[in-house]
Amino acid sequence: MTLPTSEKIKQAEDAGSNTSTARTIGDLITARIDRRSFARGLLATVALEPLLDAIPSLAAGQDGAPAAAAPPPGVFNFPELTAGSDETHHVADGYDADILIRWGDAVLADAPPFAPATPSAAAQEQQFGYNNDFIGFLPIGGDANRALLVINHEYTCEELMFPAVPQQDQALRFRDMTREHVAVEMAAHGGSVIEIARENGKWRVVPGSRFARRITAHTPMRFSGPAAGHAKLRTLEDASGTQVRGMLNNCAGATTPWGTWLTCEENINGYFWNKDAAKAHPDADALKRYGIPAEWYNWGHYELRFDIDKEPNEPNRFGWVVEIDPFDPSSTPVKRTALGRFKHEGAGNIVNKDGRFVVYQGDDERYEYVYKFVTDGKVDSANPAANRDLLDNGTLYVARFADDGSGEWLPLVHGQGPLTAENGFSNQGDVVIFARMAADKLGATPMDRPEDIEVNPATGKVYLMLTNNYQRKPWETNPANPRPQNKFGHIIEITPENGDHAALRFTWDVLVRCGDPSIAGVGATFNPLTSPNGWFGMPDNCVIDAAGRLWVATDGNNESRTGRTDGIFAIETEGERRGTSRMFYRVPVGAEMCGPCFTPDMETLFVAVQHPGEGQDDDPLSMPSTFNNPLTRWPDFDPKLPPRPSVVAITRKGGGKIAV
Ligand code: FEO
Ligand code: CA
Ligand code: CA
Repeated sequence: MTLPTSEKIKQAEDAGSNTSTARTIGDLITARIDRRSFARGLLATVALEPLLDAIPSLAAGQDGAPAAAAPPPGVFNFPELTAGSDETHHVADGYDADILIRWGDAVLADAPPFAPATPSAAAQEQQFGYNNDFIGFLPIGGDANRALLVINHEYTCEELMFPAVPQQDQALRFRDMTREHVAVEMAAHGGSVIEIARENGKWRVVPGSRFARRITAHTPMRFSGPAAGHAKLRTLEDASGTQVRGMLNNCAGATTPWGTWLTCEENINGYFWNKDAAKAHPDADALKRYGIPAEWYNWGHYELRFDIDKEPNEPNRFGWVVEIDPFDPSSTPVKRTALGRFKHEGAGNIVNKDGRFVVYQGDDERYEYVYKFVTDGKVDSANPAANRDLLDNGTLYVARFADDGSGEWLPLVHGQGPLTAENGFSNQGDVVIFARMAADKLGATPMDRPEDIEVNPATGKVYLMLTNNYQRKPWETNPANPRPQNKFGHIIEITPENGDHAALRFTWDVLVRCGDPSIAGVGATFNPLTSPNGWFGMPDNCVIDAAGRLWVATDGNNESRTGRTDGIFAIETEGERRGTSRMFYRVPVGAEMCGPCFTPDMETLFVAVQHPGEGQDDDPLSMPSTFNNPLTRWPDFDPKLPPRPSVVAITRKGGGKIAV
């Protein structure tokens, strides 16, 4: 069966590769809705009513759910959006949602116009890439109306990008993927740096900016930290183990106080192939632990480095946090190996009260772990250049969540505890390259797919998104992962001991178990003040705004599962309204919500709409959704154009701070 790429990713994340717990193939949520009917706005009332009855919250929303009471001052204040699903995006009344940049739009000055009927790698290298994910905002100087946006391009969807190319996979031997298609895919990965300017409250891309840059799967990068030069990073192309071309599957990320971009490689296993060679590979156990090779792409056809038989160490060169200086387009991106190698989601960070820099990290696969990295050195806020190599020296930790609401950070340090040569860790390079295996040895807690983690600087509390884990068995539950077959995920709030993010101990609490609270069996725990529109499932990315409030982006609330698309939700974390969630924005059919990013003045919320129009394998009625016949043609609605992943700028009509 051929699957859209995001489904391959989801299945891999669900499949997991941590064999410390037993698992079987999971089942699917039963609620289904005729996706085509929803998507195309052709609701046949007679046929739909029984389906709506089966999904109480959607029925209530469509019927006009009672408006939530106006929130008291200091909490989120906006008229809640009605949940649902259709061909376009929606934002709360009183707000504008404007397209800022789309796949194929010019990034570099000489970029040709978008011409998807004739895919061209040379054009794509100069244009905005595919599947925008993380968004970072870096002001230029002291000007509140000029900034750089740094944006990840996580992966590509061949069936929506290329005319007459159905979904490809190894079973089909990637028969429709030409050399040029693959070259376009490689150019559409990576990231973009764009300059934006605000006039009359609206942001626009500055054409021909001297900062503009495209990062792709070919961009020369270097390694730093304990694994740089390690024997396991050496290849035919790079005998030194210090240089690498490109970054892959960059999902979430962060910016730093010294003005750099941390972009995180996530599902890198899909780019490698040659399953036949995996068993005889010198690090066969490690390959298995990282799910390599998954063969989602056929790049190995054209570039031998993606064939693990030809280049057995190439997979070790991906799965890192990459630091990029976006203010210098000629700078070499650096893979900071001290932060460990796994399927990084993001890099939420804070300057600790003692001046050290702390980066929280999730490894997004079921039964994987939560990490943090604490630098040895302190952030020099007066001199950004002094922080250039701060991330090369420090301690990586992995979390153990105890059942009593306490927890501890276990150091991944060579020579300490079981991380010795007898156990396969001869140096710190081994520990970081095979971080998952080191964390196994330490007895870290396998979690329900750790996605974003963000720190609230106002309270010091840390919010961890756990998106789901269909496979968790009843006997595998624990207070930190409380539900078997966790279909809708949950959010954990972590409180570092004494407000010290470098501390070895913490306490934790579940902020909310997600899902529809009106269905008792789901076990959701939203505050009862949450309206039928306001609950969500599958928390993925998150952001804390300048007022210290938590906003959550979701991934997987497609209508076949819940009757509603993904979106942005505002969830209260304090006081009597703790756990109350409200819907603010929703994406078009088939899309995933990524990249929420506020301007410091809270007057703009940038969001990334990823893979609009993508079909879902658990909903046959959505398939196939292709370039020629997509579920939606958002945002252009031009019959000649496919749907396009886009960055959206949300502002208040007439100006002002969002949701205050
Ligand atoms: Fe790329 Fe974990 O989402
Ligand atoms: Ca995700
Ligand atoms: Ca995501």
